[in-house]
Amino acid sequence: MRIAIGVTGGSGAIYARRLLEKLQPGGHTIHVTLTKYGNWVWKEELDQDFREWKDGMKWDGEEGASDLIVDSVNDLYAEPSWGLKKFDGYIVAPCSMRTMSGIACGIADNLVTRFGDVAIKEKRPLILLIREAPLLELHLERMLALARAGVVILPASPGFYLKPKTIEDVVDFMVDKMISYLPEG
Ligand SMILES: Cc1cc2nc3c(=O)[nH]c(=O)nc-3n(C[C@H](O)[C@H](O)[C@H](O)COP(=O)(O)O)c2cc1C
Repeated sequence: MRIAIGVTGGSGAIYARRLLEKLQPGGHTIHVTLTKYGNWVWKEELDQDFREWKDGMKWDGEEGASDLIVDSVNDLYAEPSWGLKKFDGYIVAPCSMRTMSGIACGIADNLVTRFGDVAIKEKRPLILLIREAPLLELHLERMLALARAGVVILPASPGFYLKPKTIEDVVDFMVDKMISYLPEG
């Protein structure tokens, strides 16, 4: 699969890291973009730079690993920006209210909000792992508009009926849910 993943400054960088870990052995082509606050929160919550983590993993076909392309959030010419490139799915995890609102309002001013636009206009799966509490009325209105446009609004709200024992179990619940919306999920 060709997948575009945006990582924003919502809390929950662990979801993005685990999502990438789970997709790493699949032989996929993954484009990942971190916003400025996505980078910031990743380091703050995971005690490691995104780049350090990425360099510690096997990518780019090594032993069947997925290819990982890191695009600059300011690069609106990168492949996820192009409708013609036909990605199988677009995920924003975690998705801040800023980025969710930007996509809902059509403000394609960085690569993540731009690929949100592209996913909607090209009718491709777009999954937003949103994280905020409490949600404001204006957030809910914008999410309703997105849901009506076919976007999967997925609150980072894990179920506990599988009796998770570790934080990893809790995180995996949401990560597996995100992956289930991709074509091969
Ligand atoms: C430690 C930390 C945690 C944050 N958690 C959230 C959050 O859970 N949800 C949210 O919408 N914004 C959160 N924010 C605020 C966003 O990072 C901020 O609105 C930022 O402008 C988002 O920009 P981006 O969407 O380009 O990443 C958090 C900020 C910090 C510093």
